Amino acid sequence: MSRSQVALLGLGLLLMLLLYMGLPGPPDQTSWLWRDPNVTILAGFTPGNAPIFYREVIPFHRVRRLDVVLLHGKAFNSYTWEQLGTLQLLAQRGYRAVALDLPGFGNSAPSKEAGTEAGRAELLERVLQDLEVKNAVLVSPSLSGRYALPFLMRGHHQLQGFVPIAPTSTQNYTQEQFWAVKTPTLILYGELDRILARESLRQLRHLPNHSVVKLRDAGHACYLHKPQDFHLALLAFLDHLP
Ligand SMILES: *[C@@H]1O[C@H](CO)[C@@H](O)[C@H](O)[C@H]1NC(C)=O
Ligand SMILES: *[C@@H]1O[C@H](CO)[C@@H](O)[C@H](O)[C@H]1NC(C)=O
Ligand SMILES: *[C@@H]1O[C@H](CO)[C@@H](O)[C@H](O)[C@H]1NC(C)=O
Repeated sequence: MSRSQVALLGLGLLLMLLLYMGLPGPPDQTSWLWRDPNVTILAGFTPGNAPIFYREVIPFHRVRRLDVVLLHGKAFNSYTWEQLGTLQLLAQRGYRAVALDLPGFGNSAPSKEAGTEAGRAELLERVLQDLEVKNAVLVSPSLSGRYALPFLMRGHHQLQGFVPIAPTSTQNYTQEQFWAVKTPTLILYGELDRILARESLRQLRHLPNHSVVKLRDAGHACYLHKPQDFHLALLAFLDHLP
């Protein structure tokens, strides 16, 4: 390489660095229009002292009173539900939908509070309050069971519906504890998920008001493998909630 090439390369790298530093951080309460002019997606942080990043859609025509709260598995975050079109679809159907980045994922910082079972339940409860979520339906895949199960056991009276998707932490509770939860529940899992789905199903079956939908040819992240079937099952459940 000639000297001038090296100089050019150096200049290019410097420019890239400057550009990178000049880029805005995660959006704070920005909103933008999705391709569908009827759907607005908002993103920002909850105001609490351990801010949680969220994305939400506010339906243009709010025709259903339920708020759907989507958690995520280990390899994912709130963006997964935007990419998959779930947020937009729920809004088009007239639901408000909120997806969270759990502490330590996506744009949310790790939180000490998340280290205990009670802390995780309280954190979720506070986030729902901060976001003024009412008549919540909680969607909880995989790892997010660490938050959803403790919350369900303590705060199920705050939930209008529960959609566990092969969640973790079900082993931590007794049959009697599951029996006591009257929340209408849709147990969703992928046919090819042979471990976590079965293990959690064995426990979740004790919830008195549940139905089960097994997605064919889908693995542990069944909503990614069969998004259409997943969306159909979710909407059918939501549309039939009182
Ligand atoms: C937006 O809403 C209007 C009125 O409800 C409807 O006619 C139109 O098809 C919607 N647009 C899209 C892209 O869904
Ligand atoms: C399981 O339950 C016990 C007692 O309720 C609690 O101390 C522990 O943190 C729980 N573990 C998980 C993973 O939730
Ligand atoms: C069970 O849940 C369904 C909604 O999925 C609801 O319509 C029904 O009233 C519930 N049944 C009981 C006994 O609570």
